Amino acid sequence: SDSDCRSVTCQASPNIALIKYWGKRNEELILPDNDSLSITLDTNDMHSYTTVSTSSSMTCDTFYFDGVQQTKLASRMQKVLNEIRRRTKDGKIKFVEIRSHNTFPASSGLASSASAYASLAIALTNLFNLDDAQSTAAYLARIGSGSAVRSIYGGFVRWSSEGECLSSCVFPAEHWSEFRIVILIFNSSKKAVSSTDAMQRTRQTSTLFQARLSTINEKMTQLIEAIKNKDFNAFAKIVMMDSSQFHAVCMDTYPPVIYLNEQSKHLIHLVHAYNQMDGDQTTKVAYTFDAGPNPFCFIRQEHVDEFLRLLKYFYPTVNADADKQVSSDADEKFSS
Ligand code: PMV
Repeated sequence: SDSDCRSVTCQASPNIALIKYWGKRNEELILPDNDSLSITLDTNDMHSYTTVSTSSSMTCDTFYFDGVQQTKLASRMQKVLNEIRRRTKDGKIKFVEIRSHNTFPASSGLASSASAYASLAIALTNLFNLDDAQSTAAYLARIGSGSAVRSIYGGFVRWSSEGECLSSCVFPAEHWSEFRIVILIFNSSKKAVSSTDAMQRTRQTSTLFQARLSTINEKMTQLIEAIKNKDFNAFAKIVMMDSSQFHAVCMDTYPPVIYLNEQSKHLIHLVHAYNQMDGDQTTKVAYTFDAGPNPFCFIRQEHVDEFLRLLKYFYPTVNADADKQVSSDADEKFSS
């Protein structure tokens, strides 16, 4: 019977790296080569929701994406479920039904795997009452999709490359309440080279990669200091330089991995021209690009309207959305 059916629904939001994670020193456990730091988005319209159900009558695992049953579970999802079975105390094999959907298009060119795996991890942790809920959820999210470990928390989140390699909130979103994010969608198609493949290729062929790793610790210290002091000038320089360095390393890979397109480069020039416009040394906007051509622009509230006008002038047909605020405390994600 289904009388013992239990079910939990959880939500999570995507995160955007300010200092990028690039390189896995352990593929199976997804242990990163370097520390990374991100911010978790909190627009009302960018969430992943995952419902996980279990009952003794289930005879296999099933996965529905946007209401459509998938023929098989992704191997990364299988990995997460194997870990759950290993951790549940009674040792009984449990089957689950996973239902997942995003409130933003999965093909929007925005990383949906981070929020998807984070919401799955939180839902499973709750459903099976696993101990140390947040670190367990972080572990499960990480083995599903590396950067998902950072979507377990809201605000500014650091993923450590040492010790347990879990994530922690460095500053809550409320710390920097004027902080906004503008996302532009230049191209919504799926990336040509997956980040997993590109990372492997980078480790094997790029010589700039080691040089990048040697810059991370100092940058991390400086970025945390900039966020602590709400020093936007310092923040902007570190973030833009890390984005460019990451894409330079991708370019240094053989065959090269090129995620930026002509529009991305145009936006880079536009932002620097805009920042220099008043000649008063105040940086108004910073950009970063993940493994794709779409810019994430960081800006303080006071400059949003002006910047959006500029964007509408230069990119009249492009979708631009201003995020309201970085996510508030993600603890609420655990109260499903
Ligand atoms: O977790 P993955 O495999 O989607 O890799 C993400 C890599 C970047 O988005 C480029 C950087 C990051 O830290 O999110």
